[in-house]
Amino acid sequence: MKVVVTGGAGFIGSNLCARLLDEGHDVLCVDNLLTGSEQNIEPFRTHPHFTFLHHDVTQPFPFQADVIFHMASPASPVGYMEHPIETILVNSQGTYQMLEQARKQNAMFLFSSTSEAYGDPHVHPQTENYWGNVNPIGPRACYDESKRLGETLTMEFYRQYSINARIVRIFNTYGPNSQMDDGRMIPNFITQALKNEPLTIYGDGHITRSICYVSDLVEGLMLAMFQPHTAGEVFNLGNTEERTVLDFAQTIISLCNSSSIIIFEPSRIDDPERRRPNISKAQRVLGWQLKVNMEEGLRRTIEWFRERSTHFSNVSEPVRTSN
Ligand SMILES: NC(=O)c1ccc[n+]([C@@H]2O[C@H](COP(=O)([O-])OP(=O)(O)OC[C@H]3O[C@@H](n4cnc5c(N)ncnc54)[C@H](O)[C@@H]3O)[C@@H](O)[C@H]2O)c1
Repeated sequence: MKVVVTGGAGFIGSNLCARLLDEGHDVLCVDNLLTGSEQNIEPFRTHPHFTFLHHDVTQPFPFQADVIFHMASPASPVGYMEHPIETILVNSQGTYQMLEQARKQNAMFLFSSTSEAYGDPHVHPQTENYWGNVNPIGPRACYDESKRLGETLTMEFYRQYSINARIVRIFNTYGPNSQMDDGRMIPNFITQALKNEPLTIYGDGHITRSICYVSDLVEGLMLAMFQPHTAGEVFNLGNTEERTVLDFAQTIISLCNSSSIIIFEPSRIDDPERRRPNISKAQRVLGWQLKVNMEEGLRRTIEWFRERSTHFSNVSEPVRTSN
């Protein structure tokens, strides 16, 4: 199939491109490199079935597709707070552009939404029919609210034009190709632990997170797109195992054999206390199962970070932080 991956040079997009190429698809990766990196697509840059287009998907461009994965959008708090307007536009105007193409070309479409669509949830764990608790004017609103609008657009195209579209709400994901300095909890902790620097925790460390290894997430994306009877559906994709931020920090220090200490800083505005998906719909409808346990996933990720940091050891940028 001809598959378009917007945001394909990003963390999840590049892992998805690799999987699609492995399965024999023709992949067009479209990315403006706002938060992504050409290094992520370097391993398959010369693959005969891979094409990279440096382009902003809020603007129209000609392409042919049977399948469109719309993954483009800054995803970390550092990324979307640095680029709030771009984030709003890629999830609204960019989603509209991709949906229009899906309609014209009769292509299958997937919108990558986020657990942040639930805001600071009052319901735990979150099921797909929970509407969320979002601050529409806070510093995270550029991301949360634009993802919610992207979901609305997707559902209206499905209802008005019967296009073959679905939504996935992705929960915290980690693994190779994530940005080392994007301020997310796992990259932050690993980068700090490998340098034997203090690990920074915002708050007292007792807020919880659940993290999903990227190959499991990509499997969920593939199933959500290609399984029958998924059009018009919304699926949570993430890990259900909840751990405290303090626990993550201690585990990473131990897996890195690091001498780092842990330091505590004030909590950040609108940082959710708990975030844990209910994934029973994805398990039941898609047959999705998590395969990589947390220690194994962290080991693989630490190895990748170690190789990357050795490679770029001459570049010593300060680590930007936020959980
Ligand atoms: N990583 C997570 O834990 C997570 C959690 C929830 C949702 N998501 C969603 O998954 C998707 C991928 O996230 P990620 O972690 O890989 O982020 P990422 O920042 O690594 O990748 C996003 C990619 O989109 C590209 N991009 C941004 N605006 C663009 C535009 N206008 N035109 C073309 N390309 C553009 C960026 O350059 C980048 O390569 C995003 O939509 C994000 O909201 C990710």
